[in-house]
Order: sequence, then C-alpha cells, then structure tokens
Amino acid sequence: MELYEAVEKRRTVREFEDKPVDAGIIKRIISAGLKAPTNNHLREWEFVIFNDKKERLKILNLKDMTEYDECEKMMDFYGMTDSDQRGMYHIAMPRQFSMLYNSGCLILPFFKLREPLMHPTCLSSLNEFASIWCCIENILLAASSEGIFGVTRIPMEEELKHIKITLKHPDNYAMPCYIALGYPKPDAKLPVQKTINIEDRIHLNRW
Ligand SMILES: Cc1cc2nc3c(=O)[nH]c(=O)nc-3n(C[C@H](O)[C@H](O)[C@H](O)COP(=O)(O)O)c2cc1C
Repeated sequence: MELYEAVEKRRTVREFEDKPVDAGIIKRIISAGLKAPTNNHLREWEFVIFNDKKERLKILNLKDMTEYDECEKMMDFYGMTDSDQRGMYHIAMPRQFSMLYNSGCLILPFFKLREPLMHPTCLSSLNEFASIWCCIENILLAASSEGIFGVTRIPMEEELKHIKITLKHPDNYAMPCYIALGYPKPDAKLPVQKTINIEDRIHLNRW
C-alpha cells in the first residue's frame, strides 16, 4: 500500500474481531516504529507485547464508562461543545477497557527518561516523549498499510502505578500510551471525522 493510502485509511478503531495479529506482522509494524526520528539518535524504545488475554487482565486496571449520563457529565465538565467531538467520546468512553482487552495485539511502548517527564524546564526536556510519539505514529501507519487498525490510550496515574508494580519495568522507562491493534469488526463504530480545508490552515509568509 502506498504511504498516502495508508495515511488516508488509518482510523482509530475500538472494536475488534476475535483474531490475533500474526507475530511476523507485529515485528514488521514495530520495525517501522523503530525507523522514526529520535532526538538523541539512540532509539531507546522498548515494547512489551501482550498476546495472552490472561496476562492482559493482570496489567489492565481500568473500566469502561457504561453510563451515558456519566459520559455527558464528563464532557460538560471539560467544556466540550463540538458535536462531533462529543460523538467521539460517546463511542470511546464505553470501550476504554474492552478495546485493550479485545484487541488482536496489545503493545505497551516504553521510552527512556532523562529527566522527570512531569517537570519539564524547557521544550527540549520533552524530546524523549516527542520522539516516541513519532515512533507510535509510524506504528499506526504501518499497521494501516497491513489492514490492521487500532487505538492509543493515555493511561491514568493509577493505571501507570499498577503497570509498574505488575510489570516491574525499570524506573527510568516510561509508558506514553497503550497501543491496541487488530482487525476491526465490520460494524465497528467510527466517529465523524473533522474535515479540514487545507487552504484555511496554511499561512503563507505571515500568520
Ligand atoms: C495523543 C493521543 C491520545 C489519545 N488518547 C485516547 C484515549 O485515551 N482513548 C481513546 O479511546 N482514544 C484516544 N486517542 C484516539 C483519538 O480519540 C482519535 O485519534 C481521534 O478521535 C481522531 O480519530 P481518528 O484517529 O480516527 O482520526 C488518542 C489519540 C492521540 C493522538
């Protein structure tokens, strides 16, 4: 598949067929991640792959938001007024656990920390964090080119603590998100995309 086609086809999917992703494909996808640009040239990224559902249950410390009203309240609290955005959260919030548990492959990516992530002193303090997101986007695009789709979830603090205790990963490595990948259910719900007019977003020679 051409790069532009993979870019066009990539969508966030939260409902998966009960079908694992072949280990060879996972390797190819992660290899694409490892080709991403990185601030210090070192690509200090590690990936923990959970293909075993019992093991997944041990590390997942979250629930789906099952109440429609709870989701409404959350969006009101955060001042979300865009109807497409609210539609996305109504699809996403009831699936935060199930999308990770039911995916064909759950990947926990890690990057090496040089200084505490939550106390940046300047923009370059965030370089390691920025670099792993380049890696993650490569992974999502490579997956798309293989006909595999998925979602990234930002873990809450309690989830990170639970993962640290369960996985016993090194203190100087941090997890930016979960990556759940798999084969979409034919009727998987997709929110309405925001379409952007390119002419509105390019500023020529001045803002
Ligand atoms: C940094 C980042 C964080 C995200 N966090 C979550 C998340 O916690 N849970 C979730 O279901 N989706 C999450 N997403 C997926 C977005 O909701 C999704 O990309 C967005 O709605 C646009 O849809 P699309 O990916 O299909 O274009 C995240 C995406 C990014 C880039």
